Amino acid sequence: MSDTPLFPEPDVPLIPAPDRISASLPGGGAGYVIDADTEIEATEGTGRVAQWLRATVGAATGLPLAPLTDSGSRILLRIVPGLADELGGDEGYRLSADGYLIAIDGASEAGLFWGAQTFRQLLGPEAFRRAPVSGRREWEFPAVTIQDAPRFRWRGLLLDVARHFMPKDGVLRYLDLMAAHKLNVFHFHLTDDQGWRIEIKRYPELAETASWRARSKFGHRASPLWEEKPHGGYYTQDDIREIVAYAAERHITVVPEIDVPGHSQAAIAAYPELGNTDVIDTTALSVWDNWGISSNVLAPTDTTLRFYEGVFEEVLELFPSRFIHIGGDECRKEQWSESVTAKTRISDLGLADEDELQSWFVGHFDAWLAARGRRLIGWDEILEGGLAQGAAVSSWRGYGGGIAAARAGHDVVMCPEQYVYLDHRQAPGEDEPVPIGFVRTLEDVYRFEPVPPQLTAEEARHVLGTQANVWTEVLEDTARVDYQTFPRLAAFAEVAWSRLPAPAERDFAGFERRMAAHYRRLDALGVAYRPPAGPRPWQKRPGVPGRPIEGTPPNR
Ligand code: ACM
Repeated sequence: MSDTPLFPEPDVPLIPAPDRISASLPGGGAGYVIDADTEIEATEGTGRVAQWLRATVGAATGLPLAPLTDSGSRILLRIVPGLADELGGDEGYRLSADGYLIAIDGASEAGLFWGAQTFRQLLGPEAFRRAPVSGRREWEFPAVTIQDAPRFRWRGLLLDVARHFMPKDGVLRYLDLMAAHKLNVFHFHLTDDQGWRIEIKRYPELAETASWRARSKFGHRASPLWEEKPHGGYYTQDDIREIVAYAAERHITVVPEIDVPGHSQAAIAAYPELGNTDVIDTTALSVWDNWGISSNVLAPTDTTLRFYEGVFEEVLELFPSRFIHIGGDECRKEQWSESVTAKTRISDLGLADEDELQSWFVGHFDAWLAARGRRLIGWDEILEGGLAQGAAVSSWRGYGGGIAAARAGHDVVMCPEQYVYLDHRQAPGEDEPVPIGFVRTLEDVYRFEPVPPQLTAEEARHVLGTQANVWTEVLEDTARVDYQTFPRLAAFAEVAWSRLPAPAERDFAGFERRMAAHYRRLDALGVAYRPPAGPRPWQKRPGVPGRPIEGTPPNR
């Protein structure tokens, strides 16, 4: 693609910005009018995208967008694999509209689908509604030609459904929101100390017991407040199949995360034999009701390994993703230090210490997944003590883990907490709800660069892409998730998709101008984003302590 990307003028307010855009008619302006006679010519392999257009744009406009009969007015959908080289990747697309035709050509079905997202944005905010504005019959489409392809192939969003459960419909809605922003990896954080959210048929207590906690800490962990009511829920295997299929229709891969050997108290509460029974009475444990990092971690025993192999067998049946996330972060070692069983394992395996025991644990599942044609991905702690080739790393504690991983030849997803942890507050003011973590504004996210300058071009090829992480300790419902996630996810999407200049040279003012239209799209979609100005729907809650703003680590 072009070395000097052209960014759209504010009157073509696309987000994320495409590679190239130009007027396809002299003088620009409206090129095409879509109305009740406009039909879709869906050539081979494009049927699912045509269906998506009818289901979304058709519903929003009230237009039938019927299959082509013999009308002159049409939207032509094509898959043209040869375009991949020209556009810069097989997720690329070309969209052109003049007075006679709108054509969307994808280098693949995914490329065509991303082109369809651009098509919807070009129709205007009303194309994002669930039902039409009454009386409107015609939709003007600008006479533009767009060529576009993503910078990164991993454009992810993590949603933590363990700390606060999001019912299936909410997850499907988030998949739609991801698609509208051309994001394509949904990192599904399904298990943690505070809840287990996926039915595993051979271990029914995970759904029965591990999916509910008796109460929740309100605010971050230093808060004195409790919400004294049970919280929980889980996805049945049918729910999961529906989520995975819904995502696939939107060219989104669902990467499940089953967190081991830390962040496992909920599982231990359901199956006490998984814990360090020679250190504590694990039968007395319940699903954790506080935030932070529990010291109740898995025991490094054959019982545990066989149990989780059983879990992963069912997980692999449900999730076709090549990558399977095993967590691996924040495994506290106090119990292992006290456990005779753990010490015996360390000496039997000839390991140096508990850190190497964690590597051994992760390495077991690395090999186990590789033998089944999958690839392990885990948080950057899994690098400590060595990692099998083929395993990949989510770099969250900054860039360091990702740099080390890329230099060692591992693939990396960059998601440093300092930039893209969207549970962190987005302004320093008193009116931010439950102010945890760093302040990271919309502009900070816009200026986030996933590839650190320390990497050579060869090493940088290991950066698969980037991901925004939405942890939900203090996001107790969908409205709070929306508020933290938007508008920053729009900035993040542009970082992940568009070939932006270096951070200091990025045109944030131009992005904000385009955001004016994007807020109207989000309004039409019913997203409870943080408003850019004026009164906010959330006030800092009385009695929930805040924290100093800068220079402190996140305080989840
Ligand atoms: C993490 O935030 N512990 C991955």
